[in-house]
Amino acid sequence: MKKIVTLDHNEASLLVAESIVNIVRAKKDACLGLATGSSVELVYANLVKFFEKGEMSFSGVTTANLDEYIGLPPSHPQSYRRYMNHNFFDLVDIDKANTYIPKGMEAPEIMLADFQNFLGSRTRDFQLLGIGSNGHIGFNEPAAFFEANAHIVTLDERTREDNSRFFGSIDEVPRQAVTMGVGDIMKASKIMLLVRGDNKKDALRELLSHDRVDPRIPCTILKCHSDVTVVFPKELAP
Ligand code: GLP
Repeated sequence: MKKIVTLDHNEASLLVAESIVNIVRAKKDACLGLATGSSVELVYANLVKFFEKGEMSFSGVTTANLDEYIGLPPSHPQSYRRYMNHNFFDLVDIDKANTYIPKGMEAPEIMLADFQNFLGSRTRDFQLLGIGSNGHIGFNEPAAFFEANAHIVTLDERTREDNSRFFGSIDEVPRQAVTMGVGDIMKASKIMLLVRGDNKKDALRELLSHDRVDPRIPCTILKCHSDVTVVFPKELAP
């Protein structure tokens, strides 16, 4: 596992955006696995800047997002479809028909079959990740075992509390989500994890300080991937 320690979050976000730019420049029809959350917002802002300066086109790119809340319509301000459109897709030249976000309003069997079909039909050249304060990746929450494939998950109370800052109150935070499994995440050729926030320090330490892989701290599975880069500002260094 490679780690890159930056001066601050701005530098970390630019560095991740530049890596994505390099991947797409080398392969115009790259398939990118994307993430949501406050940690990666600046990555998208940087990608939009590259596009606006005419240095970048996303017209051949396909994307697949990690996860979506169950029960929020795509128009809901906190749905991940809305987040992606608002922060990235609406601001660049990507063909929205080539952007996949799991459909959190569908019947569970249809939602999962559709997501698994999509994930099985192409290889992701890159996967962007943030991390939950409990170490979750996507919405793979701490558990006794890892789930390999896309599945529906009951959100950890800690995740609901963390994400309640985006909603009017904790009662409005959905209780369930649909997420790529850890097997899906690990199939991406290259993974970059961007860590932001003091509340991620414990999870980061578990990832970097020893060799154990523990489903109760889901990010530790990344130790088993051959091309993972963890990017974080120096104040979070364990
Ligand atoms: C959500 C997403 C995760 C993301 C996490 C971190 O829970 N499902 O993919 O990594 O948020 O959020 P933030 O970056 O806002 O701390």
